[in-house]
Amino acid sequence: MICLGIEGTAHSVGVGIVDDDCNVLANLTKMIDGSKGGIHPREAANHHAEHIVPMMHKAVEEAGISYEDIGLVSFSQGPGLGPCLRTAATAARALSLALKVDLVGVNHCVAHLEIGRKVTGCDDPTLLYASGGNTQVIAYSGGRYRVFGETMDIGVGNMIDKFGRSTGMPFPAGPHLERYAREGVELLELPYSVKGMDVAFSGILTAALQLHKTGRRLEDLCYSIQETCFAMLVEVTERAMAHVEKEQVLLGGGVVQNKRLQEMVRIMTEERGASMFVPPGSLCVDNGAMIAWTGVVMHEAGIRTKISESAVNQRFRTDEVDLPWMR
Ligand code: ATP
Ligand code: FE2
Repeated sequence: MICLGIEGTAHSVGVGIVDDDCNVLANLTKMIDGSKGGIHPREAANHHAEHIVPMMHKAVEEAGISYEDIGLVSFSQGPGLGPCLRTAATAARALSLALKVDLVGVNHCVAHLEIGRKVTGCDDPTLLYASGGNTQVIAYSGGRYRVFGETMDIGVGNMIDKFGRSTGMPFPAGPHLERYAREGVELLELPYSVKGMDVAFSGILTAALQLHKTGRRLEDLCYSIQETCFAMLVEVTERAMAHVEKEQVLLGGGVVQNKRLQEMVRIMTEERGASMFVPPGSLCVDNGAMIAWTGVVMHEAGIRTKISESAVNQRFRTDEVDLPWMR
């Protein structure tokens, strides 16, 4: 069966098409211009509304199928920004009604996990999910995907983008920060913020911007931001692994494309005799294919979302999701 999945939780809108063996037939993403400041939810939703239908047509064409071949429609039901979620959900409802096929609402965080499990072949990982809006450590425990640690303020990618915006980097800043960091030599002190299993990044942002004002080299600042933030992420990931006694780490979210973060996680896993799994970049960032694939998994487990139950949930928690396919 072929599934078309629509992702629209935040600044990107994505349309992905996969078959029931997770061959990605099309995976298109469009992002609003975030260079001028944060995301205005309504403007992002208008952007998504403008692009979503042309993207569907293009995805169907790229996949080399016709609309009649689609047997299932899925969409990101939450968590995310209300107007963006509603736009994606409206498109998904309309398509499923027009094609007379089932609809499945997908939890965005679970989708990062499911696509990662499938494409990397790990079966029971601890997920380090580090993106713009989210930073969480998630593992399967007691029948649910549970969040063992998370950011108490902003996502790590959001911190990087804010730092980049204030220091003249293009948006998104992640790849630029990584490039500058390679030329860094001096490790500057930034507030390492791990509290229990949780992390916090806004203090690091404030401190880094303060140091920037005093004329510190941008290269050293980027290097120090990476070393500090990534050490925090590795620490809580390792602690979660020890707690749930799991030997696999899966990476997800746009920030995990960073090679230094991957290196630090790899060192930690090797020292523990564990292994690290990294999906291709296009499946790490927010994308429609992960929503489509999770739709297939849920549908095969007998899950259907009636139109009357398809309202979006801005605060859709990872551990609210029933996982019959894991039992
Ligand atoms: P979510 O809605 O899941 O929070 P998002 O849309 O904010 O996702 P993603 O598409 O998963 O985020 O990832 C985008 C983030 O990844 C941006 O903050 C960007 O700066 C960051 N990023 C991308 N490449 C790198 C890199 N090489 N190093 C660090 N951060 C990176
Ligand atoms: Fe995401």
